[in-house]
Amino acid sequence: MEPDARTMARLKPGCICKGVKLIRLLEAIEQGAMTVAEVQKACGIGDGSCKGKRCGEKIAELLAQASFS
Ligand code: FES
Repeated sequence: MEPDARTMARLKPGCICKGVKLIRLLEAIEQGAMTVAEVQKACGIGDGSCKGKRCGEKIAELLAQASFS
C-alpha cells in the first residue's frame, strides 16, 4: 500500500460502531487474517450496533483487494 493510502487509512473509519480506524483492519490482514471473522476478532470489532454488517462489508472488500495484489 502506498504511503498516502496508509495515511488516509489512519483517518478513515474501519468500524464506525467501535470507533476503530481502517488502518487496524489493514494491519490485521497484513498480519495474516484471511477471513472477515478473523479480521473482526483481531480488531475487536463486529459486535457493535450493526452487528458487523458495515465493517464486515468493508473487510470483505479489503480481503478481495488483497487477494489480487
Ligand atoms: S461497523 Fe463494525 S460493528 Fe458496526
